[in-house]
Amino acid sequence: MKNFIKNLPKAELHLHIEGTFEPELLFEIAHRNGITLKYNSIDELKEAYSFDCLQDFLDIYYQGAGVLITEQDFYDLTYSYLKKCAEQNVRHTEIMFDPQTHTQRGITFETVINGISRAIETAKKDLNVSALLIMSYLRHLSEEEAFKTLEQSIPFKNKITAVGLDSSEKGNPPSKFANVFEASIKEGYIPVAHAGEEGDADYIWEALDLLKIKRIDHGNNCLQDDTLVREIIQRDLALTVCPLSNTALQVVKDLKDHSLKKMMDLGIKTTINSDDPAYFGGQVNQNYIDTQQALNLSKEELYQLARNSFQYSFLPDSDKAIFIEELDTYYSINKS
Ligand code: ADE
Ligand code: ZN
Repeated sequence: MKNFIKNLPKAELHLHIEGTFEPELLFEIAHRNGITLKYNSIDELKEAYSFDCLQDFLDIYYQGAGVLITEQDFYDLTYSYLKKCAEQNVRHTEIMFDPQTHTQRGITFETVINGISRAIETAKKDLNVSALLIMSYLRHLSEEEAFKTLEQSIPFKNKITAVGLDSSEKGNPPSKFANVFEASIKEGYIPVAHAGEEGDADYIWEALDLLKIKRIDHGNNCLQDDTLVREIIQRDLALTVCPLSNTALQVVKDLKDHSLKKMMDLGIKTTINSDDPAYFGGQVNQNYIDTQQALNLSKEELYQLARNSFQYSFLPDSDKAIFIEELDTYYSINKS
């Protein structure tokens, strides 16, 4: 099973680039930027990675991202993640980045986007990994701040495919961002949003109806509402599920209690993703491996999850077809 998963062609659809910041690289970049961390060693930093809820994690995640200063820093962070994609047979990835985490500290939008996109271009050539970008608005900030970010992104529109919504969910409903999502859609960005991670089903309804999202990040709490489940299926929206993130942030107590299989059985299109792998103890393949074991998923179910990852990506149909053909060939050889 492990080998089947390791070599399975797949896409990752829910990944925050700031959440890929491994402690080793974090210390290296902090050092070269002359920044002193409040942790004395890599081990001390790792010990802080124990979370009771989303906010607990976000506090540490924003601290870590605070050592990124130069375009080269953003390049190194992104390229290091893309190398991991190549090692895991992640053939395509849709990377979220949080411009406001950086622009609020005086780093320009240009520095962030140029570093990240240069790494993506190099990885396409050198690693044969495909990637696109999702610019995420921080929901704990105001809609006005999000509008400023949208404005800053316009000169770089050709490098960005979608807009997302992340950070502290409770108390920051999708409705707060209805206008900026409408404007983002007018600019040609595809809308997605975190919804139903800690927030209830009504936040998912708002994301569907007010933000017009084309994919749901997490979405766990959709199971609170049967009508919502039917609506998600009817609109053919996929959920980007992040099992190890859910256990790390106490959204789910134990992986054995995870509702991923139930979602699949109900007919909801789901995918497996790592969210913030440096903080949650596993890259995407580890998410597949641990979930397979906890929920006793079959090879056919793993194939279906990988297929969904390509099918519900934001790639053009012609690219999806190429990846799905690669996956189908792999599955027909390795299914038994
Ligand atoms: N930012 C990074 N990871 C996140 C998550 N799991 N939920 C909300 N915002 C995030
Ligand atoms: Zn996320």
